[in-house]
Amino acid sequence: MEKKYQKLKKIVERKLTKADAGHDINHVMRVYNSCLYLAKGEKGIDLEILKTAVLLHDIAEIKESERTCHAKLSAEMAQKILGKLGYPQDKIDKIAHCILAHRYRTGVKPRTKEAKILFDADKLDSLGAIGIARAFIWVERHRAKIYTNLPLKKYIKENLMGGRINGRIKDKTKHSPLIEYELKLKRIPNRLHARKAKKIAKGRLNYMKSFFDRFSKEIKGGI
Ligand SMILES: [Fe+2]
Ligand SMILES: [Fe+2]
Repeated sequence: MEKKYQKLKKIVERKLTKADAGHDINHVMRVYNSCLYLAKGEKGIDLEILKTAVLLHDIAEIKESERTCHAKLSAEMAQKILGKLGYPQDKIDKIAHCILAHRYRTGVKPRTKEAKILFDADKLDSLGAIGIARAFIWVERHRAKIYTNLPLKKYIKENLMGGRINGRIKDKTKHSPLIEYELKLKRIPNRLHARKAKKIAKGRLNYMKSFFDRFSKEIKGGI
């Protein structure tokens, strides 16, 4: 990694010392590596924008709350940091767009190639074996359940805003990784941009399916 990126990595690492294990600097570096993989062989990608955006995309993660969106805050922090480091304004704007659009919920869709790659790479980290590990870290962070016996339809009706699949979770303590998988993670491939990313997502989802099949059987007992 070149010096300027190492410097940014150090800044981010410091900000994320108190982040949970699913959103620490290792998450940032996994997404960084996935971004490079997705960008490889693609034309017209500004690697400086991509690398800088991925390193800074979750810098404000620990400030996430009901009221504060970490993507918005991370974009603002990135703008300040990069301004101080003397980055040209047009680059800063493009980097900020990638960061802001990495999260679906901000309502800002990725417009540029770099933003689409960051979006895809970040979502891939919610899938597969690593996605399972991170889902259980989420459980601990929000005092949620490792599983719940509530039927899915009932859960949607009772715990999602408006009784809609994409409604916000009312009470996170009633959520579980299997519910997350059924309602959100399974749908990720349709939301990704790059064919390469969709392919990886499908492979990771196959792995998750076998994990949750086994998981559900063990809950019932007998194996
Ligand atoms: Fe994020
Ligand atoms: Fe992220």
